Amino acid sequence: MPRGDTVVDFNNVLGGFLRNDLAIYVHWPWCKAKCPYCDFNSHAGMPREEEYVAAVCAELAWWRAQGLGERRLVSVFFGGGTPSLMRPASIARILAAVAPLGRGLEQAEITVECNPTSSSLALFEGLRAVGVNRVSVGIQGLEAAHLGFLGREHSVGEALGTLEAAQSVFSNVNADVMYGLPGQDLAGWEALLGRLAAMGLAHLSAYQLTVEKNTAFYSAVKRGAWQPIDSDSEADFFDTTLRVLEAAGYVNYEISNFARQAKHGVMACAHNLHVWRYGDYLGVGAGAHGRVRLADGKRVATAVVRQPEGYLLKNCANGEMFAEWKEIDGARGIQEALFLGLRLREGVDEAWLQKNAAAGEWEHAVDLAELRRLEEKGILQRRQGRIQLSHAGWARLDGVLGRILRRLPESEYQKRPHVFIEPQLN
Ligand SMILES: C[S@@+](CC[C@H](N)C(=O)[O-])C[C@H]1O[C@@H](n2cnc3c(N)ncnc32)[C@H](O)[C@@H]1O
Ligand code: SF4
Repeated sequence: MPRGDTVVDFNNVLGGFLRNDLAIYVHWPWCKAKCPYCDFNSHAGMPREEEYVAAVCAELAWWRAQGLGERRLVSVFFGGGTPSLMRPASIARILAAVAPLGRGLEQAEITVECNPTSSSLALFEGLRAVGVNRVSVGIQGLEAAHLGFLGREHSVGEALGTLEAAQSVFSNVNADVMYGLPGQDLAGWEALLGRLAAMGLAHLSAYQLTVEKNTAFYSAVKRGAWQPIDSDSEADFFDTTLRVLEAAGYVNYEISNFARQAKHGVMACAHNLHVWRYGDYLGVGAGAHGRVRLADGKRVATAVVRQPEGYLLKNCANGEMFAEWKEIDGARGIQEALFLGLRLREGVDEAWLQKNAAAGEWEHAVDLAELRRLEEKGILQRRQGRIQLSHAGWARLDGVLGRILRRLPESEYQKRPHVFIEPQLN
């Protein structure tokens, strides 16, 4: 099996927090330009690469000093923002700081998110030379009008050229694409999917365009410049995606994610799969979130200060970078496992969760009557100790979660010396 490729064993899915696997998410918060639909923690400023990389390495050293136990490193994911703006030497420095956190970095999936405006064959070769084995390229579309609407600063030719260059270096390449743009037609979408599938990409992420608050698109929709598509059209786009990609040999292992069935297994994204299975991951870099079990057995949810300038003011070596640090109790843990795991076709290991819950915790977290009702309606399936959404439930995830997860009181931030409030920066 090529290094970094993922074989998804759908029969061996225990709650990730039982295992010692650890993934690392590294956030890079800068982009060349801010896209009008995007509410990620991404900023069109001048990257302060040297300082930033030093801060990330200091965070990783801080985590190492926490003694997280014997861990197997399964993934390092450089997400953004646009991490393809980083020099491969910076990636190498960060990977060197990751290595002491566990064993097996040599076998781990190491992904970098790339934008066609900052990618080239030379960059991909440089990334491979420092240990990267997977890239995820945001192409978004293959029609000039769509790229223009999305404010993308690359052409269709550049998008395709970037994918070809990536595939000439890596066997594990993902493309991000979006559907549900106003005026987009199904025939064009089908042609796009067919073209990408014919390229033999390992993975495709097909996202429905969502209009997020605090974006230029949100203001445009509010003033009536255009309307998002209706839910019937959404379903048509999703059904088309499923039909075309399944016929081309892809497995829809998560709502928006499709992995090619290869000889040695399904080429799913090991990183995202680990997170959705509720495995432990550290989130380092501005605004990154994490979930990790500490040496004392408690599991915490962490979030790093979001603004890059505020983050760079922190002394990460002393663990000053957190904007949030919350302990996850049993009921919240069950809810998070369902919230994440129901996105997956394989669903959630209900039997394991119940077995490991303290008395009354399962009932406290889950509305059992609603669960049964949704099962009777065919929206949920409960089989062999697992809960999964049925095909009919697939498009209704938000509604399902809203019904089965009981409202829990907001947990207090833990009082610990290194929790600081993010400074307000304009
Ligand atoms: C953090 S971006 C990383 C990729 C890289 N920065 C780029 O844009 O080329 C991850 C992906 O999220 C998707 N995305 C971002 N905002 C979205 C939105 N409002 N609706 C749907 N998908 C979105 C895009 O497909 C994007 O490629
Ligand atoms: S979509 Fe990608 S390039 Fe555009 S602003 Fe968001 S993170 Fe940056």
